Amino acid sequence: MSTEVALRLSGNFIGGEWLPAASGRTFENRSPADADDLVGVFPESGLEDVEAAVAAARKAYPRWRDTPAPRRAEILYAAGAILTRDKEELARLMTREMGKVLAEARGDVQEAIDMAFLAAGEGRRLFGYTTPSELPNKFAMCVRQPIGVSALVTPWNFPMAIPAWKSMAALIAGNTIVIKPATDTPASVVALARVFEEAGLPPGVFNVVIGSGGEVGDPLVTHDDVKVVSFTGSTDVGRRISAACAPTFKRLHLEMGGKNAILILDDADVDLAVEGAVWGAFGTTGQRCTASSRLLVHEEVVGEFTDKLVARARTLQVGNGLEPGIDVGPLVSERQRETVARYVEIGKREGATLLCGGEKLAAGDLSRGFFFAPTVFGDATPDMRISREEIFGPVTTVIPVESFEEGIRIANSVEYGLSGSVYTRDVDRAFRAMREFETGIFYVNSSTIGAEVHLPFGGIKNTGNGHREAGIAGIEVFTEWKSIYVDFSGRLQRAQIDTHESAE
Ligand code: UN1
Repeated sequence: MSTEVALRLSGNFIGGEWLPAASGRTFENRSPADADDLVGVFPESGLEDVEAAVAAARKAYPRWRDTPAPRRAEILYAAGAILTRDKEELARLMTREMGKVLAEARGDVQEAIDMAFLAAGEGRRLFGYTTPSELPNKFAMCVRQPIGVSALVTPWNFPMAIPAWKSMAALIAGNTIVIKPATDTPASVVALARVFEEAGLPPGVFNVVIGSGGEVGDPLVTHDDVKVVSFTGSTDVGRRISAACAPTFKRLHLEMGGKNAILILDDADVDLAVEGAVWGAFGTTGQRCTASSRLLVHEEVVGEFTDKLVARARTLQVGNGLEPGIDVGPLVSERQRETVARYVEIGKREGATLLCGGEKLAAGDLSRGFFFAPTVFGDATPDMRISREEIFGPVTTVIPVESFEEGIRIANSVEYGLSGSVYTRDVDRAFRAMREFETGIFYVNSSTIGAEVHLPFGGIKNTGNGHREAGIAGIEVFTEWKSIYVDFSGRLQRAQIDTHESAE
């Protein structure tokens, strides 16, 4: 059976078996670039499927937890090798289901490969530490332990990279997983499950349940047997999940919105800054949490910068990301395109100047997808909604600033704190910006996108809840520390007391 046919028939993956939804219901998924392209037919799951998947993950947990981490790592190395072998096929599938251009889809798969190898390497580390006890003949150490069944709720904008960030970390640490992919992009997670299956991951360790947030997500994250939840998506949904997990103090990792600023100072290399802004604003059709949606430009250079930006934005080729020469693919769905169109109207009403784009594109073949022209607003002020709210589309806003200080103040004036960047040739101001930006990620003379898997990924303020994913930090989400004391003195030794006994 070809992969394509297999995917069309794919179901949930529960306890090592491919199953239809208990309800028997399915839904179709078509390419956002071409309504004629049927990507797959997927189960529309509900509570019963969630119950079955959590039970499978719970059953598989003790054995997986007790499998030595270097053995677990071997399976992740194998998964990384299979992802490498199938990279091109997986990238094409992703472009079809999500719309991002092929070069970026390859990058998304590569991020999963990088994460597999990073996590596998941790199988021979997962360091705890030993430390001297305060008492004689006593040994002290701390170790990391897995937590149990982990629920992963993943978004559509990085259909494979983000599921990989979460699952590779959870797996190497010894947890089992139930993942609910976004309904816009289940095929990439189905493909990831097939990779794990081929790599030899035992049945029940990685389970997939496909369906909506209400029918699958809610019962999954609130399930008593789920011990960790890791969610990437909107701040509104994150807030709801946080409230749902609060009564049981469930371990919860949230990765939410962004409104990322590039600060372009008067001594910046303007051409370099334009390239960074274009890549950060229009890459992935602006559908990144890390997108460069605010361009804070010093008034000395704002004229030159804006002219060059608009000229460059106009040259971007919009179309089906499978075709060569395309820079910007479609929005993921009509709903997403409507949101973008609504924000463009809001920006116009608020008095920002629409400099280019601002409209749906539907000429010729483009009528089959959800295309929108790369859009630049100029003369915006920081209080406008287009300068404060996450749009998640190919729209960026130029806000003129008078000084470095004003730039920092505006950069920090939003509710989010994911990524930021500064363009300057002045090392002092670069270091001050590194310190002052209220974000979890920061770049100097580079765009707001481009995170690498071996560094922590995440944000502060309403972007996150204090955790990070990817890097070694990602393993913190999926482990608990246990401190262990071994007393080999043969007598009762009292900490804090016997250490300071007064001589009597
Ligand atoms: C996201 O924006 O949702 O840094 C994830 C980047 C990518 C990951 C982005 N490596 O842009």
